[in-house]
Amino acid sequence: MKAKIIYREDLTDSLSIFRFNVDVPDFKPGQFSTIGLPHPEKEGKILWRPYSISSNPEQKDYLELYIRWAKWPVLGKFTTMLWPLGVGDEVEYKDPKGAFSIAHEFPDGTPDKRRIILIGGGTGVAPFMSAAASMFEHKTDRQIILCHGVSYINELGYRDELLALEKEEGYDFKYLASVSRPDEEANAGWDGLAGRVESIIQPGEDGWSAAERAAGEKFTPDNTCFYICGFGGTVDSVKEAVQADGFVTKKEAREDGSFDIRFESYG
Ligand SMILES: Cc1cc2nc3c(=O)[nH]c(=O)nc-3n(C[C@H](O)[C@H](O)[C@H](O)COP(=O)(O)OP(=O)(O)OC[C@H]3O[C@@H](n4cnc5c(N)ncnc54)[C@H](O)[C@@H]3O)c2cc1C
Ligand SMILES: NC(=O)c1ccc[n+]([C@@H]2O[C@H](COP(=O)([O-])OP(=O)(O)OC[C@H]3O[C@@H](n4cnc5c(N)ncnc54)[C@H](OP(=O)(O)O)[C@@H]3O)[C@@H](O)[C@H]2O)c1
Repeated sequence: MKAKIIYREDLTDSLSIFRFNVDVPDFKPGQFSTIGLPHPEKEGKILWRPYSISSNPEQKDYLELYIRWAKWPVLGKFTTMLWPLGVGDEVEYKDPKGAFSIAHEFPDGTPDKRRIILIGGGTGVAPFMSAAASMFEHKTDRQIILCHGVSYINELGYRDELLALEKEEGYDFKYLASVSRPDEEANAGWDGLAGRVESIIQPGEDGWSAAERAAGEKFTPDNTCFYICGFGGTVDSVKEAVQADGFVTKKEAREDGSFDIRFESYG
């Protein structure tokens, strides 16, 4: 299948939002689409890459992806071919797939009403933008806290949309952003949270994390669950911090099958 780019927004020279005109199928926030371009080395072949979908499934006009041009330590094969493309250009496209999505029931079928903490590093915010918009559409009564961590303030993608969701009546949604290189010139004027995204859920000197302060209570496996998307290091740091408080991953699920930490890592 082909998909045409119908919108492109460049946040920086290597971070962009792309919208594609596809027949948006039903998908779950957290799933990814796969897009392709002619393989640079293998004649007649397509080079495919998966990207988390940042638009929500209720929005049927386009499918949106949030993509970093991978430049380091060497130029990424796919993103270097994608970067010069703009409105009107086409890519190959495969429908959404993937098992990373928000669960609203425990494995035994009882409703899961716990607070949801979404933790995204860099472009790892994409699945959570989709989830936050979708849960608003479905009028969830669960509390959602979305934590986003970036190196530089101009990489805080979806900030306006997330701040707007915070103001929505009847939606218990909080957005916490952190900048991991606060002392660099490019971050001058930032007076928000500092540190990699995991620092938002790590306890401070008083034993409370910034996320717990925002929620107004300590997190326990009875009242909270975690979703993480980002570098392996981000996933490991969050897991380590919350496992100490009794939160478990699917691998360590309890006898009734319940668990509290879901994640997707970058590689
Ligand atoms: C489920 C899933 C969801 C994803 N969602 C997103 C998303 O929402 N947004 C997003 O931007 N990305 C996402 N990705 C990553 C994306 O699929 C690609 O991996 C990414 O865009 C890089 O592709 P590339 O072909 O440009 O780089 P590649 O050519 O595949 O290179 C990948 C990285 O390895 C490095 N590298 C390559 N060759 C070498 C070498 N010889 N020595 C050392 N380093 C090397 C490159 O510098 C680059 O950083 C997702 C991946 C998965 C699995
Ligand atoms: N699901 C996926 O597989 C998926 C999704 C999105 C992106 N990706 C790929 O991941 C790569 C980089 O992503 P990005 O642009 O989103 O990230 P980024 O903007 O480079 O970094 C985001 C944040 O992660 C921190 N970070 C960097 N390296 C880390 C590490 N090893 N462990 C923990 N935290 C780390 C950064 O902190 P510092 O400022 O201290 O560096 C920054 O705060 C891209 O090539 C992208 O294609 C994969």
